Amino acid sequence: MKHNALTRRLAESPLAPVAALPVRFGDAARHNARIARRSAAWLFRSREHVHYTYDLEPLNLEHLAWFVATATGTGVDAVRGYLREVKEDDRLAAVIGATLARSPRRATTDPVVRYGRRLGWYAFVRALRPEFVVETGTNRGLGSVVTAAALLRNGSGTVATVDLDDRAGELIVPPYDAVIEHVTGDSLDFLAGPVARRRPIDLLLVDTGHTPEHERAELDAATPLLAPGAVVLATKSYCWPELQRWAERQQREFLYFHEKPRDHWYPGVGIGASFPALVRA
Ligand SMILES: C[S@@+](CC[C@H](N)C(=O)[O-])C[C@H]1O[C@@H](n2cnc3c(N)ncnc32)[C@H](O)[C@@H]1O
Repeated sequence: MKHNALTRRLAESPLAPVAALPVRFGDAARHNARIARRSAAWLFRSREHVHYTYDLEPLNLEHLAWFVATATGTGVDAVRGYLREVKEDDRLAAVIGATLARSPRRATTDPVVRYGRRLGWYAFVRALRPEFVVETGTNRGLGSVVTAAALLRNGSGTVATVDLDDRAGELIVPPYDAVIEHVTGDSLDFLAGPVARRRPIDLLLVDTGHTPEHERAELDAATPLLAPGAVVLATKSYCWPELQRWAERQQREFLYFHEKPRDHWYPGVGIGASFPALVRA
């Protein structure tokens, strides 16, 4: 690219910030206008008012495949296959869609099935073949049934999930409920109780998202319950460092994937993953 003498002198002069202001303003305004357009479309298209669901951008899905492949030591092509498998699971989508459509909260529910980061959870379960998965924070049960679908495909394994809210778990219906144990209560009591201690935890999904102190307490409570080689995933790693600090204390690895929601104003959350230490040169 050629610059003429005037633009060159301007770029190197003390007036450069003033000259750049319209361009900078235009960049920021275009970005914010894009978000405003998406927000307006979403206000008409969606009825959700909390725990938003969305699909992920295609390139973001490819990043997710590499993330799961790296954290589990699985070939990326196999992980891409797991992501395809869950997206093409018509029975799972039909069961979730039908349950959402008759939910008592259907007035603020979209009867459309969008998994977001839970596609990654599915791929973790398929790649690791855990016998025992624990999820803290059930909410409606979307992550629980996605996990159960992967366990059913694996042919073995169960998931235990806990939530404070006594309305949680409405999506936990047949056939997925056969491999899900849903408990109502506080996650710390649950981790101290018999359900979570039934056998070593192979995969822990930390998703109460309450406070960093609570997440730290969950990780500390779960540490003696983990199987050797267990993988721990936490959603809130994008806003506090509890999982990465725990991983360092436990001499484990840590990686983070951030969601890029498609056609949504919401900036997304993510998956923090802690897995056993790699052998380093
Ligand atoms: C982000 S949502 C969970 C989403 C769910 N895992 C999914 O895949 O859709 C967080 C949930 O954690 C629950 N929660 C918050 N604090 C909790 C606690 N101390 N013990 C148990 N559940 C808690 C909330 O009631 C809420 O339903």
